[in-house]
Amino acid sequence: MQQEQNEQTIPQSTRKAKLYGVGVGPGDPNLITLRAVEILREIEVIAIPKSKMERESVAWEIAQSHCPSGVSIMELEMPMTSNEEILQAAWQKAAGLIRAELDLGHSVAFLTLGDPSLYSTYSYLLTILKNQLEPDQIETIPGITAMSAAAARVNLPLAIGDEPLVVLPGIEGLDAYEHYPNLVLMKVSRNLPAVLNHIQKTGSQAVLATRVGQTGEEIRLLRPEEEMEKVDYLSLVLCKRDGSEDFE
Ligand SMILES: C[S@@+](CC[C@H](N)C(=O)[O-])C[C@H]1O[C@@H](n2cnc3c(N)ncnc32)[C@H](O)[C@@H]1O
Repeated sequence: MQQEQNEQTIPQSTRKAKLYGVGVGPGDPNLITLRAVEILREIEVIAIPKSKMERESVAWEIAQSHCPSGVSIMELEMPMTSNEEILQAAWQKAAGLIRAELDLGHSVAFLTLGDPSLYSTYSYLLTILKNQLEPDQIETIPGITAMSAAAARVNLPLAIGDEPLVVLPGIEGLDAYEHYPNLVLMKVSRNLPAVLNHIQKTGSQAVLATRVGQTGEEIRLLRPEEEMEKVDYLSLVLCKRDGSEDFE
């Protein structure tokens, strides 16, 4: 509240430009926070991470209706690769472009699908820019994660009581968690066979949630006997060892 009052009373020309890491939620335009909307309405530059420049950005589709019509768009290429050198180069380049806008006095909103603190390229930019900016030049605005939206969609708790919740960025190391009651498996698109194998081995119940809150949303039970190779990149699996009746 203090910060808002300050922003209202300090003229724009003398205000320090800020980097906002904006979580826009999983896809449903109603699942974006009031703070995110407030920032998007006033922002000068929108930074959109893209794995391939020709692809549409889901985060931008969600944010677009809240942004001023003349807002500047900065598309940042963030290749999907495990090559550390390519990644470092992309992050440094993106951070440099954002920094240049901030130096011109333009505030920048970097959009993230879901929450910016969960498996987002925003975190890598933050590591670089934290060393270059004043602490009050950075504001991270949390968003509703895809896993929260998926759990809500099927009216299931992610975890209750003293149960742990394990969130994995894929299937690497999955065997180590076979006794855990609640797993969330992100980035499963190419890993379905391993997920199905895990369900069969552990007798778990699992829900596959694709494009939650977006056009093309699909949510369904995963059966261990089915054959699936690949699903949409925007898919995750909620996996529970017990409570099968909750899933029906
Ligand atoms: C780079 S991570 C981004 C996570 C995001 N920051 C969040 O808070 O949910 C990308 C993975 O998130 C999951 N994801 C993101 N949006 C989704 C959606 N609308 N529906 C289902 N899964 C989604 C998928 O597992 C996808 O592979």
